[in-house]
Amino acid sequence: MNHKNLKSFPDGFLWGASTSAYQVEGANLEDGKGPSCQDVKEVPENTSDLTVCADQYHRYKEDIALMAEMGFKVYRFSIAWTRILPNGTGEVNPKGIEYYNNVIDECLKYGIEPLVTMFHFDMPAALDARGSWSNPESSDWFANFAKVLFENFGDRVKYWLTINEQNMLTLVGPVIGTLVLPEGTTNVLKEIYQQNHHQLVAQAKAMKLCHEMLPNAKIGPAPNISLVYPASCKPEDIIASQNFNALRNWLYLDMAVYGIYNAIVWSYLEENDATPVFQPGDAEILKEGTCDIIGFNYYNTSTVEAFDIQTAVETEESLRDQQSGQAIPGFARSVRNENLPKTEFGWEIDPVGFRATSREIYSRYHKPMIVTENGLGAYDTLTEDGKIHDEYRINYLRNHINQMNLSITDGSEFLGYCPWSAVDLISTHEGMRKRYGFIYVDRSDFDLGTLNRYRKDSFYWYKKVIGSNGKDLD
Ligand code: BG6
Repeated sequence: MNHKNLKSFPDGFLWGASTSAYQVEGANLEDGKGPSCQDVKEVPENTSDLTVCADQYHRYKEDIALMAEMGFKVYRFSIAWTRILPNGTGEVNPKGIEYYNNVIDECLKYGIEPLVTMFHFDMPAALDARGSWSNPESSDWFANFAKVLFENFGDRVKYWLTINEQNMLTLVGPVIGTLVLPEGTTNVLKEIYQQNHHQLVAQAKAMKLCHEMLPNAKIGPAPNISLVYPASCKPEDIIASQNFNALRNWLYLDMAVYGIYNAIVWSYLEENDATPVFQPGDAEILKEGTCDIIGFNYYNTSTVEAFDIQTAVETEESLRDQQSGQAIPGFARSVRNENLPKTEFGWEIDPVGFRATSREIYSRYHKPMIVTENGLGAYDTLTEDGKIHDEYRINYLRNHINQMNLSITDGSEFLGYCPWSAVDLISTHEGMRKRYGFIYVDRSDFDLGTLNRYRKDSFYWYKKVIGSNGKDLD
């Protein structure tokens, strides 16, 4: 649909950006913090460990001041479960509470709304030792953590996100460093979807609790949602795209919004003897704990073709990363979309797909949306005079904001936009060299440098965007 006039971004639109605790804070075992799965995992070859990251734990004031200088209205950050509860359950760590009180207060000092992710890829190691998400008690561990957060921060935090990219934890957990398989697991798919089920129940318990304890707050999920295109108009490819859309996207949003399992996914799980076991009360809690808002991360679309089980010579090993697809015999197989360029790190770039994805989410669910991640991972260069000329990032963001504006004009309801990332941080599996921030951090994978902050060109550009409420994108 072409529009003659674009609607404006709504008043009070929440412009900001995102980070996550384990990728930005550092101080990973300081002041009583317990280890998470990220602290004990083997880091991918040639990438930094997660002990220092961007050192935000010690530099949050400087970082938040820079965000305020850009005009941020919101800062999306995550709370490290093991800073609050070093063993995942049990004793609360007062230093952890103090740290996040400080971060929240620092944001509010500048009129920046804190948008808190409760769980961003950092399961307490002590809970991994107790079976991690395969333990049916895990939903109660998470609900207990949620309660501690609501009690301590609920007086000031109005926007909450439950689990970051649960769909990626399920589809590519080993890439992110999170999957724990109990010894003797034979049906891996069943085990993974059992863990996924426990996370869905955990999320529902947290959302229900939030409504009870903080009736004025808004809570939602933060999956990685991107439309899956059919590779052609062959009807079989359409079915494949519906399959993969269901598995990657709608499973998570059907559950968060309606508290029900997506039918196509359920059938796929039945087919593979992989349906999850429900504990008594699970079906009810899933229906009772639904969301107010939809947070979603968007990087690019994917494209699939039919992958007939007869023609699949063998089950292809299908694990890539968050954006690079899967091959599931009898279901769908990802293919390259030749219409789209790629980033230096091989992710396709599809701003129009952002409009398409958000229109589809809004048409299906009619909930206000907040973009919780979107951005370009690239190699940046710090010049001798302290500049970072990242016009590639500006182009990426400009094109996506333009498409968001079109989607708003199409009738979609957006609350805000939080690209990834506010500050350079460590990527999930590609180290420090894959940078996303508006704020450059002077360090590399194996040299901690000065950790000084520098304003990239995108910093000044985004400041203008925010100052004009999305009108000035030049
Ligand atoms: C999302 C995650 O998958 O994408 C972030 O929520 C992550 O934690 C971001 O950093 C970018 O991915 P990557 O793999 O480039 O770090």
